[in-house]
Amino acid sequence: MIPTAQALVSPGKGILAADESTPTMAKRLAAIGLESTEERRRAYRQLLFTTPGIGEYISGVILFDETLRQRADDGRSFAEVLSQAGVIPGVKVDRGTTPLAGFPEEVVTEGLDGLRARFAEYVSLGARFAKWRAVLRIGDGRPSAACRSANAHALARYAALAQEAGLVPIVEPEVLMDGAHGLERCAEVTVATLRTVYEHLARYGVVLEASLLKPNMVLSGADCRVQADADQVADATIGALRQAVPAAVPGIVFLSGGQSDLQATANLDALNRRPPQPWQLSFSYGRALQAPVLRAWGGEAEHVGAAQTALLHRAAMNGAARRGEYRPELEQAVVAHA
Ligand code: 13P
Repeated sequence: MIPTAQALVSPGKGILAADESTPTMAKRLAAIGLESTEERRRAYRQLLFTTPGIGEYISGVILFDETLRQRADDGRSFAEVLSQAGVIPGVKVDRGTTPLAGFPEEVVTEGLDGLRARFAEYVSLGARFAKWRAVLRIGDGRPSAACRSANAHALARYAALAQEAGLVPIVEPEVLMDGAHGLERCAEVTVATLRTVYEHLARYGVVLEASLLKPNMVLSGADCRVQADADQVADATIGALRQAVPAAVPGIVFLSGGQSDLQATANLDALNRRPPQPWQLSFSYGRALQAPVLRAWGGEAEHVGAAQTALLHRAAMNGAARRGEYRPELEQAVVAHA
């Protein structure tokens, strides 16, 4: 598992999160005017995974349960398609959030029941790493200590089960960017959340060297009047992570969480322009990698090539940001080339 964790955060590469649940995928397709059918979801994921050269910038892809069971037109399973392209297949194993009883507006992630048996099946289907997402919302007195510990407990139980099955757990406690709070409040909540998470991972015996962290960046709330720039985000994010993430963790793979694709790249680049940290600083983007791809595709077979070019371009931009070598001019250069 340790070599897999390290491979997922190889220099210049990051993770593509393509693990939208069926209802979330329906929303993404509706946004481009398409109905969500199993065949259309398969066709779209095939487009992503067969992008020529994807392995140059993408180390791993997170799949949804349904996708891990699907096949490309040529009969290969998607796990085989990815492995043969040098990309490690992973799987989202949580079953989404549910209201936390007694704590209005707070949620806890479900999916532990039967997880040992599901892991055994996922291994047989070719998965080599896993993901579980917890969601914390900033508000009046929120997140509560109860919400932090309920979610940290579930993350730790999940991570221990993943490692028992031989899979690298990606531990994802997402502090949402929704709200009018400032950067400092996001930093404070992120530190408190990550401390609770690592306390529970230690208690449940999770081997940190064989795990990855998928956190939010420290950002100004989406409705905050003053928006921090990339340098402020990078300083606040590294400052927060250093308070709470053990050096034994090989890599931190940020979620994009509603940032625009350009913002997510610029922020990752600023993070990687700082002095070296104990962990690799990489990406595990969903929307920030896929938004331009969905737009270019629009459900049309004749646009598959253009959509794949859009994916490779975004992946290359984030690959450059992994090295702290991104410049906005690169966007034009590659678009012109495409
Ligand atoms: P976003 O990058 O769109 O936030 O998605 C990443 C992810 O996998 C959230 O669980």
